[in-house]
Amino acid sequence: MSCCNSSETGFQRHDLTKRINAEDKRLINCRTVDVNQLMPLKYKWAWEHYLNGCANNWLPSEVPMQRDIELWKSDTLSPGERRVILRNLGFFATGESLVGNNIVLAIFKHITNPEARQYLLRQAFEEAVHTHAFLYIVESLGLDEREVFNMYHEVNSIRSKDAFEMTLTADILREGFTTETEAGIQQFLKNLVGFYVIMEGIFFYSGFVMILSFHRQNRMTGIGEQFQYILRDETIHLNFGIDLINGIKEENPGAWTPAFQEEISAMIAEAVEMEFLYAQDCLPKGILGLNADVFRDYVQYVGDRRLERIGLKARYGSRNPFPWMSETMDLLKEKNFFETRVTEYQHGALLQW
Ligand SMILES: [Fe+2]
Ligand SMILES: [Fe+2]
Repeated sequence: MSCCNSSETGFQRHDLTKRINAEDKRLINCRTVDVNQLMPLKYKWAWEHYLNGCANNWLPSEVPMQRDIELWKSDTLSPGERRVILRNLGFFATGESLVGNNIVLAIFKHITNPEARQYLLRQAFEEAVHTHAFLYIVESLGLDEREVFNMYHEVNSIRSKDAFEMTLTADILREGFTTETEAGIQQFLKNLVGFYVIMEGIFFYSGFVMILSFHRQNRMTGIGEQFQYILRDETIHLNFGIDLINGIKEENPGAWTPAFQEEISAMIAEAVEMEFLYAQDCLPKGILGLNADVFRDYVQYVGDRRLERIGLKARYGSRNPFPWMSETMDLLKEKNFFETRVTEYQHGALLQW
C-alpha cells in the first residue's frame, strides 16, 4: 500500500467545495484538510517554534575566525585538545546532514499539517546553515576536509551513533512504509525520537559541553560562537520535536502502548550509553577540567530530562555536573548576534594567513 499519497500535497483528497476547519487538522494521516492551507492555525506551538527559529538568523561566515586560526596554528594546543576539537567537528559535520536529510526525505511527506511543515522547512534550512558552519571551520583552519567529513565512516564512536540514526531513516524510506497502521505510527515515532530526542537532544550534547568549555576559557572562540548559535537552534529543534511527538501520541493513543513505551525508554538508554562511549573516545585523558567519567553523569542527566519530556520515567537520577550549560542556554535565548559581532574582520572567503 502506498502511503498517504492523497495527504502529501492535499490536491487529491480534499473536497474543494468545502472550507477547512482548524479542528479537523491532524499531524499525521489527515484525510479531510487541505495541507496547503496554513490558516486557520490549529497547532499554535508549531507556529511559535517557526517564529522563534526565524528570530535566530545567523550565518557561519559572519563569525570571525582569526583568533582560532592563530591558536590552531600555534603550538599551545595539546594533542588531547586537538583531538577533542577534531572529533567534534567530525561528528557534527555529517550529523547535521543526517538530520536535514531525515527531515526532507523521511519525515516531511508523512506530516500532514501545514504549520508543522512550515516549521520543518525552516528547520531544514537551519540544518543547511549548520553544515555550512563545518565547511567554514574546516576551510578557515585549513583542516584536512576528507579526514573531518569521513569520520562518520572511520571513527567507531561516531560511526555507531550515525549508523543508529541512519537505520531509523531507512526504516521510513522502506517501500510500503505507511503511518496508517499502529505499527507504522510506532515506527514513525521511533524515527522522531531517534532524531529529535536522541540525535539533537542527546548525541549533540557532549560536543556542546566540550567545545563550549574551550569557549569558557576564551580559546577557539570562533568555533565556540558557532556552537552557541547551533545550540540555540537545536534547543528549538528539540522543543518542536517533543511537541510533535507528544501531539502524535495524543492523537494516536493506541500506538503508545506500555510495551512501546518500554521500547522507547530502552532505545534512549542505548543512546545514552553510546554517547558516553563517544565522550570517552574524545577524552581518553582528562583535559579542560573534563574527564570522561563526568560525562556518564551528564549524559544520564540529559537522558532523564528527555525521557520526562515525552512522558516516560527518568531512569538514572544522575546529577548535572555542568550547571553552566543550563545558564549558557538561558543566556543564548537573550543573545543578539549583532551585539557581539566584531565589526572589523575579514570575510571567510577572503581570509589570508
Ligand atoms: Fe543542526
Ligand atoms: Fe537540528
